[in-house]
Amino acid sequence: MVHPTRSLPLIRILATGGTIAGAQIEGERGYKAAAFSVEALIAAVPRLAELAQLEVEHVAAIGSQDMDEATWQKIAVRTQAALASAEIAAVVITHGTDTMEETAFFLNLVVGSDKPVVLVGAMRPATAISADGPMNLYNAVAVAANPRSGGRGVLVVANDEIHFAREVAKTNTTQVGTFASGHRGLAGLVHAGRLHLYAPPVRRHTLASEFALTKNTRADERRWPRVDIVYAHAGMGRELIDAAVQAGARGLVIAGMGDGNLGAVALAAVAAAARAGVAVVRSSRAGGGVVERNIEVDDDALGFIAADELNPPKARVLLMLGLTRTRDVGQLQEIFFAY
Ligand code: SIN
Repeated sequence: MVHPTRSLPLIRILATGGTIAGAQIEGERGYKAAAFSVEALIAAVPRLAELAQLEVEHVAAIGSQDMDEATWQKIAVRTQAALASAEIAAVVITHGTDTMEETAFFLNLVVGSDKPVVLVGAMRPATAISADGPMNLYNAVAVAANPRSGGRGVLVVANDEIHFAREVAKTNTTQVGTFASGHRGLAGLVHAGRLHLYAPPVRRHTLASEFALTKNTRADERRWPRVDIVYAHAGMGRELIDAAVQAGARGLVIAGMGDGNLGAVALAAVAAAARAGVAVVRSSRAGGGVVERNIEVDDDALGFIAADELNPPKARVLLMLGLTRTRDVGQLQEIFFAY
C-alpha cells in the first residue's frame, strides 16, 4: 500500500508478526499472534498518512518466540535491500516483544546503513481494549520519518520511549511499559509523534560494524555457529554444559549468578569446554551491571570472555557473530568491549 502524498518520506514496513498483529480468541483469555495483517493495522491509524508514505513487505508471520537465525538473516537482508534504495528513507519492522531485543541488536550489528531502522511491537493484541499497538506504530513511523533518527543504530519504539538496540530489554511479562534501557539510558522520548532525542550511542553499530552486510548478501549466505546459553543456579551440576558441548556448541554464554559466577562443579565444566576450544562468555542473570574480567573468576587463566554490559541473549548474538570472524579469545574479548 503506498499513500499518494509524494513529498512525505517513503518508509518500508517489514512485517514479522507478534502481538501487535495479534487477535484475542473469543471466549478465551489468550490470543493468537500474527493474526492481523499490517495493512489492517495501518488502516486503523489513518493519521499515519500525515507522517510518511508506507509500503509493506511481509517477511514472516510468527510469534517472536519462534524467531531464529534464518529469519534474522532474512530480515537483515530485506532491511539492507530496502535501505539501499535511494527512494526509501527508513525501515520500520513490526515484531513480537519477546525476542525484540535480540533481533534489534542483531540488526544493529549487521545493517550497513545510517538510515533509521525502527522495531515496534505491542504488549496487547490489536483487538484488546486500549491496545497499545496503534500508538506504538504511529510513534515508530514518526521516529523513522525523522532524519535526526539516523546514525543512532537500530531503535526500538514502545510506550512513548525510544530505546537503543544495545540497551533495550524486555523486563515485564504483561505490562505495556515492559521495555527498559538500564545501563546507558533511553535514546529519547516520542509523544504523539513529537521526538525528543538524547545523546547518540558510543559503541560501534551499523556502518561502523565489521559484521555489516553488503547490498549483495543473500538471505541464505551465512551459516551461524551454534551458541547456547546456560542458566546458572544454586546447586548446579555440569550435565547441561557437557550436553551443549556434545551437541556441537562452538560458543557458550553463561547466564551466571551476580558478576557472572558459577559454582565449582559447573565452573570446572565450562573451564574444560574452554580448553577444548569452545568460546565461553560470562554474562549475568542479574538483569543489570557490568561483568568484569578477573574479579571473582580468573578469566585469564581459564580462557573466558567477559560479557561487559550485555545480557545473556545479546551476548549470544554477539558471540555468534564474533565466531564468524575469529576463535581467538583475546580478539573475541575486544569485540565484547567494542560493541
Ligand atoms: C511475541 O513476542 O511474538 C509475543 C509477545 C508480544 O509480541 O508481546
